[in-house]
Amino acid sequence: MTVWGAAAVDEAAGAGVVHVGTRDVVTPLARERARELGVEIVVGSPAGPPAATSATTAARPTVVVPAPAPTAAPTAAPLSPAPAALSAALGSAPRPVRPPSGALYRRGAPIGRSPARSHTPGHAASAPGAAPTGPGRAAAGGRVGRVVVVGAGNVGMIAAMRLADADTFDEVVLVDIDEGRAAGIALDLTHTAALSGFTTRVRGVGTVEEAGRADYVVLTAGKPRTPGMSRSDLIATNAAIVGDVASRVARTSPDAVIVVVTNPLDEMTQHAWTSSGFPSQRVVGMAGVLDTARFQALASLAGAGPADGVAALALGSHGEEMVIPLSQATAGGRPILERVGPADLDAAVDRARGSGAEVVGLLRSGSAFMAPGMSAARMVLAMVADRGEVMPAAVLADGSYDIRDVYVGLPARLGRRGVEGIVEIDLRPAELAALRDAAARIGERLGALA
Ligand code: NAI
Ligand code: 2OP
Repeated sequence: MTVWGAAAVDEAAGAGVVHVGTRDVVTPLARERARELGVEIVVGSPAGPPAATSATTAARPTVVVPAPAPTAAPTAAPLSPAPAALSAALGSAPRPVRPPSGALYRRGAPIGRSPARSHTPGHAASAPGAAPTGPGRAAAGGRVGRVVVVGAGNVGMIAAMRLADADTFDEVVLVDIDEGRAAGIALDLTHTAALSGFTTRVRGVGTVEEAGRADYVVLTAGKPRTPGMSRSDLIATNAAIVGDVASRVARTSPDAVIVVVTNPLDEMTQHAWTSSGFPSQRVVGMAGVLDTARFQALASLAGAGPADGVAALALGSHGEEMVIPLSQATAGGRPILERVGPADLDAAVDRARGSGAEVVGLLRSGSAFMAPGMSAARMVLAMVADRGEVMPAAVLADGSYDIRDVYVGLPARLGRRGVEGIVEIDLRPAELAALRDAAARIGERLGALA
């Protein structure tokens, strides 16, 4: 497994195509860079199945970007993005990971249901009959569906801004018990339409019911941390809020995908899952995208080169048991340890682990919101784009990594209907042990919550 970052795409810009292995992870930034540069990411070898190669790129010379480890070089393996056992566990057949297409990314372009995705028999995340009304439905003007952001506080505000700015949805609705705040932020955001160039409608209301049926729900309602307060201190207050919101969402939007942000993240995601009664594929927590972004920034400051050239995955818990497997991290397409010494990298990991508290300490009131809000929006946009993107996310472990029945940060393949599968990457024994320990600790805290 190779993690492909933006730098690898940069290197391939002249050739116009990057071939990645079927089990490789292509970071969100790499996909974004590919779109900007017009580079196509093709799963499989240069001689791979024609379905993965467009007519345009077929005529181009092919460049296989050097992988950091010889074992991770792109192969001619069949297009199977997830281990067969995992796919069987999810009840879905392995499917090709589609390369990004310019049409999918173009602002305002219709997000059609891809032929590769229109039939996923037995996929537990696909409610029968959900597809025609969901965000896969193309609408006049190209925008589709509704995303509801519950909690119009700091994180919700930034998430809503990014979601509106993407001009992907018909409507972004902010919900807050402080209805005036939700309405005020919505109006303020609406005023940016000409500045940002979006036509998505933005509303602010006081209840989930008033928001209407949602395709995606970003759940940020709750209390943030204050200085000296741990995430776990928040558990009782936020469990009541999250449980209530999740059960209301289940009644109002029975086919929605919920992205939980409220802390303590792993525990609240599991709580939202049980409270909603949704299949686990449709309840996912946001923390790994944020923690990865923090590590990328900090590794960059430590000399790893541009942050978007750093590829890594923050797994485990959103807290003390965060695991960033350095054996998998790259900078500029090369193993990150070739660029930054182990002591400096360990310091970057430690600082990423403590970044939430560091920001809380500086702000003195409230917690981080820009990177968190952007991270939540990015997950939703990845799902609606339906590219099968792999992101670190809090998901219900299914036996992969020998972890089961607990929400913990793992690499997850995201699609329109939520989590399509957990992706197993090669970890060193110590990394794997740390990941299992994180899951065990979350399980203990969930026991206390119960
Ligand atoms: P905030 O205090 O600015 O906003 C929370 C909002 O939720 C408030 O406007 C409040 O009125 C609203 N709210 C409370 N109960 C509600 C209910 N029942 N229904 C609707 N709205 C309700 O807090 P902020 O900074 O936006 O953080 C939100 C949550 O996200 C916190 O729990 C925080 O710890 C967490 N967080 C998680 C991160 C992650 O990586 N998972 C990162 C950053 C924050
Ligand atoms: C953060 O990591 C507080 O969880 C929040 O910023």
